[in-house]
Amino acid sequence: MIKMKTIFISGIIMSFMFIGTNTYSQNNNMNKNDMKEIIKYGTYAPSSHNAQMWSVKIEDSNKIKIFPNYKRVLPFVDPENRETWISIGAFVENCVLSAQDLGYNPTVTIQETEVYIEFKKDAEKKISTQNIENIKKRLTIRTPYLNEKIDDNTITEITNISENVIFYPKGTLQGKEIIENSINAYSLQIQDTAKLNELAKWMTFSYKEERERKDGLTPEMLGITGFQHFLFNTIMSKKSVTGKTFIKGSIKGVNKQLNSCSGFIIITTKSFNIKELVQVGRDLENVWLKCVENEIAVHPISQVLEEKEYYDKLKKNLNIQGEIQMILRVGKVKKYPERIGRRLEVEDVIKE
Ligand SMILES: Cc1cc2nc3c(=O)[nH]c(=O)nc-3n(C[C@H](O)[C@H](O)[C@H](O)COP(=O)(O)O)c2cc1C
Repeated sequence: MIKMKTIFISGIIMSFMFIGTNTYSQNNNMNKNDMKEIIKYGTYAPSSHNAQMWSVKIEDSNKIKIFPNYKRVLPFVDPENRETWISIGAFVENCVLSAQDLGYNPTVTIQETEVYIEFKKDAEKKISTQNIENIKKRLTIRTPYLNEKIDDNTITEITNISENVIFYPKGTLQGKEIIENSINAYSLQIQDTAKLNELAKWMTFSYKEERERKDGLTPEMLGITGFQHFLFNTIMSKKSVTGKTFIKGSIKGVNKQLNSCSGFIIITTKSFNIKELVQVGRDLENVWLKCVENEIAVHPISQVLEEKEYYDKLKKNLNIQGEIQMILRVGKVKKYPERIGRRLEVEDVIKE
């Protein structure tokens, strides 16, 4: 009788234990849809030339690995993959922020060739849509901005994101240095056929390409709309980017862009190591999303960072001790446009 009772009781205990472990594993295992959703928001991140040079491997049910897709990198403008790692950092931050909205605590580990994110469900965490809303609105705006001041409180909120984030108003000596060296670097870079051909590879020149490609830059993304868009697709081709008309028009356009804004945000590091570059991408995304929240337009300007002669000059004249990793033209716009969002599908970026 005692034996029967013991078996009965231990049976009950076992079944409780079973339920217990089951509940435990359910809590620890990530919902598959959440994982897919988080990776999708990762892909909404900015990347140079919209090349989306990121791949994801699902390590286990609550851990992913993010690493460069070397078939998509930009060897001519970005030979050291500096911009690749920054873009990956922005992808990582979008995953982190969207996971937090979905009730997870993510942990990021940056290694020499990859970044890991582990997600832990946190029952205490409030489900939110705040970060995801901003991620869904973020875009690069390349049209000229209003020459209006951004209020000081907003600038403080942005520069408080990291000690590596600095703002220079357009009218200051530093603002003028950024404009002058950016125009010079742009004019130099546009003479380089290899770099131009690389850009052309990531641009679309027909409505067909616009329909079929899930990456790269369309005329609309470059601020070419309406009849101009039609003209662009009718007249231009991958070959004509090296022609005089394109070069002259582009330099004029950049001059106008740089002179129509409130100022420039720069993000710096101590060195060029991968950990710091990934962190730049994460800071970049947070700065950008704070701008989205305040309807401030953002446009990265990278040519001066890609042309050593002008980079060294700018760094010296701005008196930057470390390295400049991002320059963002920022300002107010009459109407904040909707995100265009040309992206690979989640299935395209997941590698087995
Ligand atoms: C590291 C980095 C450098 C970039 N440099 C430039 C640049 O020099 N000029 C530019 O117009 N856009 C630049 N961009 C913006 C990308 O072209 C843009 O993020 C991409 O086309 C996707 O568009 P979206 O930001 O609207 O989603 C840069 C983005 C990143 C992450």
